[in-house]
Amino acid sequence: MSEINTASMLQMTSEFQRMVDEFFEVQCRYQAAIRQVQTKLENLDDEYQLRHRRNPIHSISSRMKTIQSMMDKLRRRGQPISIASAVENLYDIAGMRVICSYIQDIYTVADALTAQDDIHVLRVRDYIRNPKPNGYRSLHLVIEVPVFLSQGRVTVPVEVQIRTIAMDFWATLEHTLRYKKPGTVPEEISAALLQTASDITMLDERMQRIHDKVEALNSGEKGTNT
Ligand code: GTP
Ligand code: MG
Repeated sequence: MSEINTASMLQMTSEFQRMVDEFFEVQCRYQAAIRQVQTKLENLDDEYQLRHRRNPIHSISSRMKTIQSMMDKLRRRGQPISIASAVENLYDIAGMRVICSYIQDIYTVADALTAQDDIHVLRVRDYIRNPKPNGYRSLHLVIEVPVFLSQGRVTVPVEVQIRTIAMDFWATLEHTLRYKKPGTVPEEISAALLQTASDITMLDERMQRIHDKVEALNSGEKGTNT
């Protein structure tokens, strides 16, 4: 009896060890993909700064999904619970958030990134042109980037969320409010959040118009100087 237990425990331990090793290997690949995209975004931002004397990107952050959250998501979707299944089914194991100054910058950055010939676009969800019913706005891309390992090249998906400072302000607070009030949020609160999202859209659009006017004035001045 105790021999059987020891044998099955040893098997479980080696199975567990195999899963941990597999997770670290996958994690390493996804981290590499995040670094590739981070560098691409920084390069674009630097070049834009040279040409236009300002940065379209305000900040970039990234995160790797934890093993727990991968398994929870697979369970919720009724998909097989394993690292291989996570790699096969989840597009957001590597997630990046790019915060831009103005609405137009979002599309400038997204277009320049997806135009690169080593990037393959898997999915685009434009929640700016088509906001979610709760008011959420952001541009979501899932792109595949090449990562070079000792055994050769693999492609890795990365979810990139691009939004303005104002959209991020709303999304971050809305997320914490929802988290603090699990289950269905009272109608009155949902309506108030939707109204705030609409106020924020107005501010974003107003800031864009102010920016465009300043740019026009600057280029007019440059024109008269030459
Ligand atoms: P997930 O299963 O959550 O990944 O959803 P999905 O695969 O349908 O993708 P979707 O594009 O709808 O959203 C993915 C991510 O966008 C989420 O994990 C959040 O980070 C963000 N997001 C989407 N909707 C909302 C929202 O209503 N509020 C906030 N704060 N964030 C959101
Ligand atoms: Mg997600």
